[in-house]
Amino acid sequence: MHALVVYDSQFGNTERIAAAIADTLRTTGEVRLAHVDPAHPLDLEGIDLLILGSPTQGWQSTKAMQALLAKLTPQQLHGRAVTCFDTRFQKPRWITGSAARRMAASLRHMGVTLLAPPESFFVEGTEGPLLTGELGRAAVWARALLNRIETPHPVMQR
Ligand SMILES: Cc1cc2nc3c(=O)[nH]c(=O)nc-3n(C[C@H](O)[C@H](O)[C@H](O)COP(=O)(O)O)c2cc1C
Repeated sequence: MHALVVYDSQFGNTERIAAAIADTLRTTGEVRLAHVDPAHPLDLEGIDLLILGSPTQGWQSTKAMQALLAKLTPQQLHGRAVTCFDTRFQKPRWITGSAARRMAASLRHMGVTLLAPPESFFVEGTEGPLLTGELGRAAVWARALLNRIETPHPVMQR
């Protein structure tokens, strides 16, 4: 299994979640962890699982992540497992918005059926830190993704 985790992060919290996810995925395959770089199109050659992560900023993902999503094509994503996550405040979603939900909507618009619903991990304040237990929860989420890849299942939408 070859996975690619692409993240953006202003203060390092989303990066820490992305790294925890990558560490868990590494137990069963090769994983590349990459900071988003909209100047270069994603090379998805040989990638089985793509995970996108962004901080929630103004109810959506960062400009760089939006630019990356805008450059992705349905052809590039076809046949690959894809999902996404964000970091945000732990308040009701109608107050905070969610970058992951917005990214998921863009991915679905490209015809992607997500491997798992978009997930949020929570920060205490704008610059962090992550709430206690969130790195562990990221590892659990990553393990659940591996289970879903290994065991064919009806894909959930949320
Ligand atoms: C410009 C800006 C806008 C933000 N807007 C939101 C928001 O709409 N909803 C929310 O829950 N958090 C918001 N936040 C808090 C971020 O989600 C938080 O800074 C982020 O999770 C930290 O991740 P990072 O360390 O990877 O940048 C905002 C932060 C910034 C800097």
